[in-house]
Amino acid sequence: MSLKGRDLISIRDLSREEIEEVLKASRRMIPIAQGERSSRALDGRLLALAFFEPSTRTRLSFETAAQRLGARCVSIADVASSSVRKGESLYDTTRMLAAYGDAIVLRHPNEGAGRLAALASDKPVINAGDGAGQHPSQTLLDLATMHEAFGTLTGLRVVLLGDLKYGRTVHSLAHALAVFGAELVLSSPASLKLPPDVRDHLDQLGAKVVEEDELPKAVKDADVLYVTRIQKERFGDEAEYAKVAGSYRIDNALLNSAKSRLIVMHPLPRAGEIAPEVDATPHAAYFRQAFLGVPVRMALLSLILTGKAG
Ligand code: NCD
Repeated sequence: MSLKGRDLISIRDLSREEIEEVLKASRRMIPIAQGERSSRALDGRLLALAFFEPSTRTRLSFETAAQRLGARCVSIADVASSSVRKGESLYDTTRMLAAYGDAIVLRHPNEGAGRLAALASDKPVINAGDGAGQHPSQTLLDLATMHEAFGTLTGLRVVLLGDLKYGRTVHSLAHALAVFGAELVLSSPASLKLPPDVRDHLDQLGAKVVEEDELPKAVKDADVLYVTRIQKERFGDEAEYAKVAGSYRIDNALLNSAKSRLIVMHPLPRAGEIAPEVDATPHAAYFRQAFLGVPVRMALLSLILTGKAG
């Protein structure tokens, strides 16, 4: 099925074949993302971005992707200066953005905000993070990073480390990895385990999932170590956060016992989970991962807005 005109709210909205189509298209976008070739594939299109939570990479890479393909962007980046401050509902804001732009990219602190926006909008809505819910375009670039490093996703042993409870990138990624037949190793503080509904869903997919809270053991046979930040802003109680803050940190000593081809990934921003010394090792893949957000979002926007892969 074509992605043209479709919403992307959860990674579950895409079939395995559709994910493969985006990844394939994204590889062809790399020279354009690097400025070596130019494209006007989205000439005349307008992307409306509404970010009701902080963002650096996601917003900038969507804007970069749109502009590299000749589209333009309008955005609400600062909620304090928009009518949301006056009490405007997400429904009304979205309806208006849908009237202005050809597609909407939305980030919002409430889980389910993407679905609500999709109901309000007659234009495609891309969920760029809804609270502790989903972050599907991040998953696409995460998969692209793994695929680039290993040439496949099937059979990879992927450690998901950190805040598996509130981390929306992990909720999306775990599903996709299961669909592609990767093995999952869950490693988190006891209070930050994967939510039961996400875990049950993985079981229903027949995913290979194990839990390993001891980091050296988790890392030992891993191909990918996917590190996440503890999502401080989602904690109702400061004291609960204090109990888990700083409870894991990746450094070169830990990576000494890892496979030589292990890649360390992180959706970023990092807040102390990966020591800067790791940056200089061949394991560090997180900056490449952040770059790949551009070609992946180029592919996604192109397929959603035109039905064509560039
Ligand atoms: C992540 C997010 O916003 O969910 N960041 C991102 O999009 N690259 C992860 C995080 O904030 O920890």
